[in-house]
Amino acid sequence: MSALSSRTVSAEEAAAHIGHGDRIGMSGFTGAGYPKAVPAALADRAEQAHQRGEDFRIELWTGASTAPELDGVLTEAGAVSKRLPFQSDPATRKAINAGEVEYIDAHLSHSAQQAWFGFYGKLDVAVVEVAAILPNGMLVPSSSVGNSKTWLDLAEKVILEVNAWQPRAYEGFHDIYYGTRLPPQRRPLQLLDPMQRIGDPYLRVDPQKVVAVVETNAPDRNLPFKAVDQDSQAMAHHVVDFLHHEVGQDRLPKNLFPLQSGVGNVANALMTSLAHSTFENLTAYTEVIQDGMLDLLDTGKLIAASATSFSLSAERAAHFNQNIESYKGRILLRPQEISNHPEVIRRLGLIAINGMVEADIYGNVNSTHVMASSIINGIGGSGDFARNAYLNFFVSPSTAKGGRISAIVPFASHIDHTEHDTQILVTEQGLADLRGLSPTARARTIIGNCAHPDYRDRLQDYLDRALAENPTGRHTPHLLAEALSWHQSFQRIGQM
Ligand code: COA
Repeated sequence: MSALSSRTVSAEEAAAHIGHGDRIGMSGFTGAGYPKAVPAALADRAEQAHQRGEDFRIELWTGASTAPELDGVLTEAGAVSKRLPFQSDPATRKAINAGEVEYIDAHLSHSAQQAWFGFYGKLDVAVVEVAAILPNGMLVPSSSVGNSKTWLDLAEKVILEVNAWQPRAYEGFHDIYYGTRLPPQRRPLQLLDPMQRIGDPYLRVDPQKVVAVVETNAPDRNLPFKAVDQDSQAMAHHVVDFLHHEVGQDRLPKNLFPLQSGVGNVANALMTSLAHSTFENLTAYTEVIQDGMLDLLDTGKLIAASATSFSLSAERAAHFNQNIESYKGRILLRPQEISNHPEVIRRLGLIAINGMVEADIYGNVNSTHVMASSIINGIGGSGDFARNAYLNFFVSPSTAKGGRISAIVPFASHIDHTEHDTQILVTEQGLADLRGLSPTARARTIIGNCAHPDYRDRLQDYLDRALAENPTGRHTPHLLAEALSWHQSFQRIGQM
């Protein structure tokens, strides 16, 4: 038994260590490994303070999105002033879009180093879920690593939640790199293979900083994924065909390069569909292990996966927990600064597949916003991977909201990935390989291969007129006023 166990208290007592205005770093990444009890106790404190007419709000830093028990309760209690680096919670999204919560939508590989650089200010308290505290004080992480290492290192005070729902057998599933230094002392990351270990299996914490330990027994919570539909199957088909083509051209080995698959329904469905492909001995160096990637591991087509977190439906999480021993040695969870590290992504030559909201005819991609103004989730790791991958795919159905919105537009209403970063766009209509193409050739390919037939002629007409009306601007021709009004005329939907 660890000496830290003597600091076991209730969630309410633990939350009393957090004050108004504090910056709090919590564990958690896409609904996995987040604290389950202290956030609710903190939300109660905030509500009581508000009833007394006092302000009580914190800055909330995590690994990525969390769940209703963290983002949901704190936002609904009006307890969050600033949020970083990623979220996907409906209440938080609404509060951000209403201007009530400031949101810093950062690349996920940047958040730890920018906290170390001091760009976000001093971190007051870390609240981190673990699967166990060992007698020697080392911590067995649970279903995500995210930014937990950094928060434990930087925070002045630490609250640990020990969750009995998380299998004790998680010991050995993690690789926590402790060699990070700040510029100019940085050294190359000697990570040459997706499953190579470069760190320790445990998180460390200075016992002097631990002010409270809270025991919980509660499941991770992720929303179920949408069922794999015809569109997703069509997109998967295009991706698989293309990968076969690249193998045929000797640009990829038969077992491909390590895969990265993003968050969301579409990326998940693509992984599920890859399970039916003929590829064998695949590996993954990715951010999240979604249901689809676990399916790939279960079929044996994927032999190993490095990630920073799980992002499983309740059903698949239960399956994983029951069979955890069978995954040992095939799954490794790392801090997100390593899972998403540009140096490693470029060295390993990843094949990155991420969802998008819309792309414009030149290949600029919007991953985050509706109608320029309202955020959906955030950029997450998509920029880390797309910019540095060997091949990157952005995937989306060609229309949204029952066909009322085209995912291919003249001018993206918000740009997360510029035309210089994007290589291959995929919709259920087809695939646009943009490598080595000039802007106008890209536009013809995207319109011809990816746009929905209901919008194709209109987009082609836009391109033709933009070329005709810009005799000295034919490199990336636009009709600016029309490009922007496209969104108003075609996308008359309510804010999300
Ligand atoms: N205009 C308006 N709404 C749109 C839209 C568009 N062009 N495209 C998609 N949407 C809406 C969908 O209608 C859906 O809304 P609903 O839940 O109300 O039905 C929602 O956005 C999600 O779309 P869906 O088609 O289900 O795709 P998804 O679950 O695969 O999510 C992203 C797509 C872009 C939102 C998601 O991939 C994302 O958040 N990406 C950014 C982060 C990222 O890529 N991380 C990866 C690194 S690992």
